[in-house]
Amino acid sequence: MNYQVFSNYETLSAHASQFILDYVRQKPTATICVASGETPLLTFQKIVANAKPGDFDQVTFVALDEWVGIAPDNAGSCRSYIDAPLITQLGISPERVSFFDSLANDLEAECQRVNDFIASKGGLDIIMVGIGMNGHLGLNEPGTSFDTYAHISELEEVTASIGQKYFQSETPLTQGITVGLKHFLEAKVAIVLANGAKKKGIIQRVLEEPVSESLPASALKLHSNSYLWVDESANPA
Ligand code: PGA
Repeated sequence: MNYQVFSNYETLSAHASQFILDYVRQKPTATICVASGETPLLTFQKIVANAKPGDFDQVTFVALDEWVGIAPDNAGSCRSYIDAPLITQLGISPERVSFFDSLANDLEAECQRVNDFIASKGGLDIIMVGIGMNGHLGLNEPGTSFDTYAHISELEEVTASIGQKYFQSETPLTQGITVGLKHFLEAKVAIVLANGAKKKGIIQRVLEEPVSESLPASALKLHSNSYLWVDESANPA
């Protein structure tokens, strides 16, 4: 795991966006799994601002996760955090993007559909995610097997309560549907981003604790090409 500290959110996001742009210029058919949440929003803005015509013509995106039961057009949905700021801005055509349909009747089939979509692209080139206060990656909560592809998860109380920040009104959140930690471990490049003082404690745990399924983000240390990029305020040192 390569650990790097940036002076602030701006420089962290500039680095992450440049990494993605450089990658897709090297591999125009890249498949990239991106997270929702607040952390990657400035990275998305910078990707959009600095993309040149053609950069993303053949790139495929996979949205990391979704709250079960939340409609795609809800402003708090994971989809809303990826679609408008990134996918629509880049003009990605629908066949080159996967979002979880968390209203599907058969959520297991929905997981399989996303697993098959990723497999049909030859796996993920890049997975770029934030980190939860409990160390989750996507909605892979503590205790999730590292050996799991897309699945339904039971949300911890902390995830359900912090998740309220995305919604305009109180919204019950109990389950998630998420790309799995096996996808994270099998991606050619795995990146975790964190900014802000509130993430300092969990970054300290990732740096200090051994690899364990009780700390999903510790999967970073099992990956042979992984990056933990944080801003100065999230750096515990
Ligand atoms: P955030 O969410 O980017 O909104 O902090 C990260 C996460 O919970 O994984």
